[in-house]
Amino acid sequence: MASSASSLGAGEQATAAIAVNDLGFSWPSGDTVLQHCSLTVNPGEFGMLLGSNGSGKSTLLRILAGLLDRQSGQIQLQGRVGFVFQNPDHQLVMPTVGADVAFGLVAEQLPFSQVRQRVLSALAAVHLEHFQRRPIYALSGGQKQRVAIAGAIAQQCQILLLDEPTALLDPDSQIALVKQVQELVKTRGLTALWVTHRLLELDYCDRAFLLAGGHVIEQGDPQRIKQKLLGA
Ligand SMILES: Nc1ncnc2c1ncn2[C@@H]1O[C@H](COP(=O)(O)OP(=O)(O)OP(=O)(O)O)[C@@H](O)[C@H]1O
Ligand SMILES: [Mg+2]
Repeated sequence: MASSASSLGAGEQATAAIAVNDLGFSWPSGDTVLQHCSLTVNPGEFGMLLGSNGSGKSTLLRILAGLLDRQSGQIQLQGRVGFVFQNPDHQLVMPTVGADVAFGLVAEQLPFSQVRQRVLSALAAVHLEHFQRRPIYALSGGQKQRVAIAGAIAQQCQILLLDEPTALLDPDSQIALVKQVQELVKTRGLTALWVTHRLLELDYCDRAFLLAGGHVIEQGDPQRIKQKLLGA
């Protein structure tokens, strides 16, 4: 899925691709998930968000994607946002790879030739150019995640939000996917925010964020945060 940018509040960095400032969110039950939550991901950066189960990582990503409304604070997103879910079977809806990537373009009402060009180019970006006619059921988990990413690229999303995209993958596919996103960020100037529990993945990102108690308690060098979590 993709959503468009939201407005900048006072005091944030105008240059950030993703800027979250003093965000607050509670469920209708009154349970507070996020409070005074702030983070910044610069354009062209690959950020990773960590935190224990229930710390609010998915909630934060959903607010950024416009799937949930914040109650306080500001967010700034420089560009269109694409979301990749943990389970690609919750995201891919069409019978074949090409049809699924094209489906995300329906709202844009593009001429057929442009749809075709966008689909082919997005599949090439994730190295699936020969999979256009492949049924979705005949893909591996990692390939399905790459189709979901191709859908976002076809929609010209500049920001990728990925919620534990490797959770259902085996170790080889896990590393292949994280390398793929790292390559996309570097070669296409995308910005990514990736949620994970797997510390190995921190080796591929530029900046890490640790969420606890409703806000980011540590951010910066991924290796420093990795060491901190390994020692915890
Ligand atoms: N739809 C919902 N209604 C009410 N509470 C919810 C809902 N979804 C999540 N929560 C609660 O919000 C809190 C944060 O959940 P969230 O899914 O954001 O955590 P998370 O950090 O992504 O956890 P995990 O690592 O297990 O994926 C949890 O206490 C969870 O039970
Ligand atoms: Mg989650």
